[in-house]
Amino acid sequence: MQQHILVTGGAGYIGAHTLVELINAGYRVTAIDTLERSEFRIIEGVERIISKKIDFHQIDCLDAVALNSVFERNTFSSVIHFAAYKSVNESVEKPLRYYKNNVGSLMTLLEVMKRNKIRDLIFSSSCTVYGQPDQIPVDESAPFKKAESPYGQTKQICEQILENVISEGFRIVSLRYFNPIGAHPSAEIGELPIGSPNNLVPYVTQTAAGVREKLVVFGNDYDTPDGSCIRDFIHVSDVAIAHVKALEFLINRTEASLFDAFNLGTGVGVSVLELVNKFIQVTGMKLPYIIGPRRPGDVEKVFANPQRINQAFGWRTKYTLEESLLHAWNWEKKIRNR
Ligand code: WQD
Repeated sequence: MQQHILVTGGAGYIGAHTLVELINAGYRVTAIDTLERSEFRIIEGVERIISKKIDFHQIDCLDAVALNSVFERNTFSSVIHFAAYKSVNESVEKPLRYYKNNVGSLMTLLEVMKRNKIRDLIFSSSCTVYGQPDQIPVDESAPFKKAESPYGQTKQICEQILENVISEGFRIVSLRYFNPIGAHPSAEIGELPIGSPNNLVPYVTQTAAGVREKLVVFGNDYDTPDGSCIRDFIHVSDVAIAHVKALEFLINRTEASLFDAFNLGTGVGVSVLELVNKFIQVTGMKLPYIIGPRRPGDVEKVFANPQRINQAFGWRTKYTLEESLLHAWNWEKKIRNR
């Protein structure tokens, strides 16, 4: 029987790319989203890619009544929970909103899942739970250090809740994303940085498109080969495919309850300046940038040891950094010409 998956935050950056890969893998999907941080045109982009309609409902995961009604009308086999706020610096300005939304929506979802006897959940976590790891590449045994922001703290709190609720019969996989970048190769969907982007690659593509005057590289005095921070940039479609693999992993497990967490990264560290120069090389675009002061809260160096996820899921990343940057640029050009 075709498995039916509920995707919360399905109009979001990673949520939308995951809808595409779930459909490609033969799953039936229902997507919910508040559209507070995205637009319905992203769902329309998904529909153009898969050439069929998406069952979409504009629902807030904090609304237990509305959420429960979706469960009552469907027989879901699993849930993938993306719905959350994700801006590091906004979380510093509005911590209460972040705790309420990110932790509150997970709690509501778990209660509604329990009420409807749905036990399998894939959770959208982040490498930010590690803080600045002592050991690089970082593996899943690394301790959670003090989170650098309320956003990071909400991911730590959510993972701790998830580890403890398995006693109530949940089976949970938490995926700790490193730095998702790029867009679907079709350029039908991509990252919609509503307002000013926080992340590096939208800043890069908006500067190349002339939307921003210049890129500021936040510091080149770190203890790294070129002085700029090092990250693990992973193509968003690789991240999406890993969610399909996580579902298969969970469906094949026989335990009545479990919690497991996996680092979702390429395992390759790339510096900010390396990425900037690679972008210029693959697109041929000018990219005016200056070196500015360090950004508070930035960790110097973090990239994944992806051995566990590679072995457990029988999966590894397939897109290169060049392809990620090219796809990001194609998406930027697409939304600017709209
Ligand atoms: C990457 C590097 C910046 C912008 C955060 C969250 C993480 C995830 C991804 C949600 C850093 C530098 C950036 C700019 C720059 N979020 N930079 N100039 O901080 O690694 O991770 O976003 O899932 O959980 O922690 O990502 O893209 O903001 O920064 O020099 O204009 O690029 O200093 O070194 P980050 P980022």
